[in-house]
Amino acid sequence: MSMTRLETFVNLGYTKDPLKGKLHETGDMVRCRRILTMAVESRAMVSIVGDRGCGKTEAVKAAMERMDVKTIWPKRVDQENMTIADIKTAMILELSDENVKRGGIVSSAQLRRIVGTASGKRTAHGAETQIVVIIEEAQRLHKNTLRSLKTLREMDWAGKSELFTIILVAQSDPMNHPGVSEVRLRSDIVRMQGLSANEAAHYVRETIGKHFDPRAIELLAELPAARNYLELQELCVTLLNIALAAGRELVSVEDVRSVQPPEAEPVPRGQARGKQPAAPVSGATALQSVLNRRNGDAGGVPADGRASC
Ligand SMILES: Nc1ncnc2c1ncn2[C@@H]1O[C@H](COP(=O)(O)OP(=O)(O)OP(=O)(O)O)[C@@H](O)[C@H]1O
Ligand SMILES: [Mg+2]
Repeated sequence: MSMTRLETFVNLGYTKDPLKGKLHETGDMVRCRRILTMAVESRAMVSIVGDRGCGKTEAVKAAMERMDVKTIWPKRVDQENMTIADIKTAMILELSDENVKRGGIVSSAQLRRIVGTASGKRTAHGAETQIVVIIEEAQRLHKNTLRSLKTLREMDWAGKSELFTIILVAQSDPMNHPGVSEVRLRSDIVRMQGLSANEAAHYVRETIGKHFDPRAIELLAELPAARNYLELQELCVTLLNIALAAGRELVSVEDVRSVQPPEAEPVPRGQARGKQPAAPVSGATALQSVLNRRNGDAGGVPADGRASC
């Protein structure tokens, strides 16, 4: 029997998903913040590139929150069809009270005036206002949109050019098109490394660590899936499912061994690899025994974010 993520956490007594919420500072986040701080100061164009779920959006959001900047996130449901007109429209709507003509046609003069005026304003701290345009799923942008973005960033107002910063967030290099070398040469790229084993172990310990044998966390943190938040979360839920189905609330080392791909199994230093049997996944009966125990065990429910059901 396999439960969905939310059902698994409900059965463990949580009222909200414990894997979501508090951000953990990782090496990627620190690097991203440093580079984005510099990019904003220089009004540069920079791509943040990394696998799906490695934490790009969270890292960019966290970096922006720490800076005194005006962020613009142009969005479309069909992001692959994002055009320069969508980006210009988002800029006008975010930076002014002016209307955009039907069909999203924005005149260059209107945009220059609005962006130029907004970037010339002083913040409460007396600094120049920094405008940052952040485009997600940027690997899907058409090469013509990329070229127009470059031109847009170079527009000038009152003797100043490069009026704003562009951050492209992408799963692969957005400049990976023939014919955009003039854009590539004027932009920078930050590749996210993913979670280190220490960071992955810390994340599991701090979120659902009480349901894991400490040695199981160490083993789990070495797996390839633990380089990426989304995959790590999914793996944690799978392991919790296995433990619950076996009538336990604690994920064991054997549970982790049962899900790891054989070639990825890390061999602890100085120790031969022993073949462990997979944890039995016997389903409803074992799970019911955990739930019965939990329901009858009023005193044993931790208070931190977990319901006393
Ligand atoms: N620093 C962090 N601390 C804790 N959890 C995080 C952190 N970064 C990301 N996560 C978790 O991972 C999930 C995915 O992160 P995020 O949306 O930033 O990934 P992404 O790289 O932008 O993915 P995509 O390529 O699909 O857009 C978040 O919803 C959050 O649960
Ligand atoms: Mg994202």
